[in-house]
Amino acid sequence: MMQSKELRVYGGIKLYAGTASPELAQKVADYLGETLCGRDIVEFPNENLFVKLHSSARGQDVYVIQHTASPVHRNLMELLILLQTLRLDSAARITAVIPYLCYGRSDKKDQPRIPIASRLVADIIQIAGADCYMTLDPHAYQIQGFFSVPGDVLNASSILVDYVKDNLRPYLKDPVVVTVDLGFAKKGRNFALGIDAPIAFIEKRRVANDAKAQALTIIGDVKDRDVVLVDDEIDTGGSIAQAVNLVKENGARRVYVAFVHPIFSSDASERLAALPVTEYITTDSVPISIEKREPFGKRLTILTVAPLLGEVIRRAHEGRSVGQMFNE
Ligand code: R5P
Repeated sequence: MMQSKELRVYGGIKLYAGTASPELAQKVADYLGETLCGRDIVEFPNENLFVKLHSSARGQDVYVIQHTASPVHRNLMELLILLQTLRLDSAARITAVIPYLCYGRSDKKDQPRIPIASRLVADIIQIAGADCYMTLDPHAYQIQGFFSVPGDVLNASSILVDYVKDNLRPYLKDPVVVTVDLGFAKKGRNFALGIDAPIAFIEKRRVANDAKAQALTIIGDVKDRDVVLVDDEIDTGGSIAQAVNLVKENGARRVYVAFVHPIFSSDASERLAALPVTEYITTDSVPISIEKREPFGKRLTILTVAPLLGEVIRRAHEGRSVGQMFNE
């Protein structure tokens, strides 16, 4: 793990956390054997934010850990102000570590008179001061093209695969991996390969610009099989509810749901807890409050992404390959 000093172009690692991801940031710090750097983040009565660093970041290799899920605009603005503060304090290199990147679904102009908000988010993160970025399982990988600074776009679904392979696979009867929509087909295929199971797909069509989606048909066989439904995120839970009902109507036995980002907007956790699902498996890319965890009882498993982020941060700092972690 130790690298020669010649490769270290910057000072030490400096880890900062916004207010969105304190627990995850602490776990990353623990993994790296570092402490989180002190900073004040104050919200004035007029909702403007103020940031002050407790010590100098001059010449340091700085990582700012902050997801941009709910409250989206507060978390995003906080990240931007932290980045700018570090830039103005002459940090040598600043990496925005964004476990969940907002506006990922707004990645193309596929109808007239709409924005590409994901591009805008990439622009402002760079303008604020990020020299690099890191994120997990974005909704669409083409968002990498919206950034002109280097990025590590990491695959946390491999953590879900490992869990299912090691803890569930021996007990699953004729398992099949089912992707909740065709957009997750490639990742779904890797998931299925990872647990040595066949794959099926749900063809889903969104019918409006609101959060409503409609599941249509299953391509593949789920009858009398244990189903592992996979997706990148659960937001309102609408897509998963339709998917669970669809596979059940088509004869599925037990249903498991594995997804990277637990966004859980509005009443998603109650809605999900009411479904005939044996276990939900997700990550801590976005924290789930105790109130939102509660309806699941013991049916919710949260796997941490901290070692993944921590190891990539270590390698980025030491100028070592990240691809080697994944045998690339
Ligand atoms: C959509 O394309 C995504 O892969 C997810 O299926 C979607 O974001 C989930 O949203 P919701 O839980 O609101 O249906």
